[in-house]
Amino acid sequence: MDVNVRIFLFLVFATIVSCDRVTSPDSDSYYVDPNRYSQNQHVQEVLRKYSQDPRYNSNNPLPQDILDKLSSTPDPRYGVGTGNYAGSSYRPNRPYPPSGRVDIANVDRYGNSQFGTNNDRNRQRYDVYPEPGRGDPPRQYFENDPQYSLREDEIIKILAQIDISASQQCNINVRAQWDFETNVNDVNQIRALEQQLAYSEFQRRVHNIVDKIDKWDIRDRDLLRQLRYLATVGPSVLPPDQLNRYNRLINDMLAIYNTATVCDQEDPLKCGLRLEDLNLIMARSRDWDELQHVWIEWHRKTGQKIKELYVQLVDLSNYAAQLNNFTDTSEYWMFPFETYDFRNEMEKAWNQIKPLYEQLHAYVRRKLRDLYGPEKISREAPLPAHILGNMWGQSWENILDITIPYPGKNFLDVTPEMLKQGYTPEAMYRVAEEFFVSMNMSAMPPEFWSKSVFEEVPGRPVICQPSAWDFCNGIDYRIKMCTHVTMKDFITVHHEMAHIQYFLNYKKLPKVFRDGANPGFHEAISEAISLSVSNPKHMQTLGLVLTSVDDIPHNINFLFHLAMDKLTFLPFSLALDMWRWDIFNGYTRKERYNCHWWDLRERLSGVKPPVLRSETDFDPGSKYHVPANIPYIG
Ligand SMILES: *[C@@H]1O[C@H](CO)[C@@H](O)[C@H](O)[C@H]1NC(C)=O
Ligand SMILES: *[C@@H]1O[C@H](CO)[C@@H](O)[C@H](O)[C@H]1NC(C)=O
Ligand SMILES: *[C@@H]1O[C@H](CO)[C@@H](O)[C@H](O)[C@H]1NC(C)=O
Repeated sequence: MDVNVRIFLFLVFATIVSCDRVTSPDSDSYYVDPNRYSQNQHVQEVLRKYSQDPRYNSNNPLPQDILDKLSSTPDPRYGVGTGNYAGSSYRPNRPYPPSGRVDIANVDRYGNSQFGTNNDRNRQRYDVYPEPGRGDPPRQYFENDPQYSLREDEIIKILAQIDISASQQCNINVRAQWDFETNVNDVNQIRALEQQLAYSEFQRRVHNIVDKIDKWDIRDRDLLRQLRYLATVGPSVLPPDQLNRYNRLINDMLAIYNTATVCDQEDPLKCGLRLEDLNLIMARSRDWDELQHVWIEWHRKTGQKIKELYVQLVDLSNYAAQLNNFTDTSEYWMFPFETYDFRNEMEKAWNQIKPLYEQLHAYVRRKLRDLYGPEKISREAPLPAHILGNMWGQSWENILDITIPYPGKNFLDVTPEMLKQGYTPEAMYRVAEEFFVSMNMSAMPPEFWSKSVFEEVPGRPVICQPSAWDFCNGIDYRIKMCTHVTMKDFITVHHEMAHIQYFLNYKKLPKVFRDGANPGFHEAISEAISLSVSNPKHMQTLGLVLTSVDDIPHNINFLFHLAMDKLTFLPFSLALDMWRWDIFNGYTRKERYNCHWWDLRERLSGVKPPVLRSETDFDPGSKYHVPANIPYIG
């Protein structure tokens, strides 16, 4: 039998098995939880307080004459300016779905904003749309609007007002989040949460107003696009009781996820192993049975227990998407990419990269076969998910020790040289700034240097996740990071500063457009910068590499390391979001949730569950972003 046929048959067989029986999923490691506010015990209390506090419900900053006109017919769902709105999405500034990269320590918070876009690109993108006929997207979304025809100059006036208020409101909110994250205590946390709620409420009010503007006669595409983005506010659009339920479902699922513990395999009395402990085991253990135990138990304690809640969330999330005039949540998630055929485009892009991945996969399989033996790892089968050094098999970086092509020819680490040359955290930022300035990009503004937090301050707890901040006023930009003098942090400093460069470049745009060109673009720019900075040649330019490392073994090891981290991650993230798109749009019913997950994982990553699975399991639910309902791509 020809090899391809055998592989094909095997895959078919494996797929059938995983669908009929049972297997389990993956989880997350260095994730900085964007929903942390929601896990706080004060949340319900604050929500209650918020709903009764007139401060959040009055003080509408929009022009009164226009407001009166728009609010003369109240929307039955809530109505402009009604008080007593019980709460809204309290995810930090929302909205920006943290990217997949998130796990690896670069959760970035760009000020906030819903899905926005850079103006120039946006023009180019708009040209991609077919002219009206095959459904002009903006029009499609506004089709059923109630009918207030305003002249374009009136609309421009409203948008200008919204722009000013939105920048102010955003600034207030981001300041509160910053104060909390750089000085963690109960007082600051409650304040951060309150501001988050107030900002969501502001966005929802803007939505209500924009919702009522008739867009049929608007010819200016920029204007239309602004209105469309302002009208899209996500789950905050839900009526209060439903929104409450939505938030509670996510809280409950995250509570399960965040409190799950597992018992030790050898010592069943040693329980209480948390995800961070399990991640270490997954990364370091080479004991097949131990890894399998940890994998199975994590999936049992998280995914399985989350499934019923997730089923409810899918309905509610789709309902919210419909209130935003999307057919379902998958359309809402794809909306900011502004293309008609996102799913196919993603799949096509992956197919171009796949041949390289297949080589990596075959090579790693050979190494794992050498280690675990041919009875455990077949010559042709997909790889079992539990031996890849990561709970979810999403990055294989942790098994470099057993796979590196040229042992001893270490890929570059300039940390010792940095220490020897007396680098400090501040020096790292100065060198990064020089890097950007040398490419004719901006120097960091004065506020950056005076207000950023580069190091932990004794006696002041800081959330150390590196992040870049846009304070929405065109002046104030900061980085928060507990920087250590290491090569890894040095690259991260460049990564974060690249976000600031992007902020600076779009700061003149309307607030609603001050964001990445699409949800993936901010990270893409920063990652491109990181890649070029970490290049051995650049390290040589900086005088951090003194010996020559420009030989084949060093270069191969360096590239191999990158591939084990970044290449393996692509099919994983694609599977995670394809799976959810298929669920949200109804293609996959709940009887096939787990089965479909493993179909995708096998087809895209060539990874299978270590043991048989069934629909009692809910393996994708063991990955943070599923219970948190945060998109992964972008
Ligand atoms: C969405 O559709 C509903 C009814 O189909 C309509 O009342 C509402 O105004 C629309 N909203 C937007 C933003 O288009
Ligand atoms: C930290 O927060 C508390 C409470 O808001 C505040 O009193 C204190 O001054 C803050 N500390 C610093 C250094 O900002
Ligand atoms: C550097 O940027 C400025 C504007 O920011 C531009 O006028 C100038 O031409 C650029 N120089 C080069 C060498 O690209």
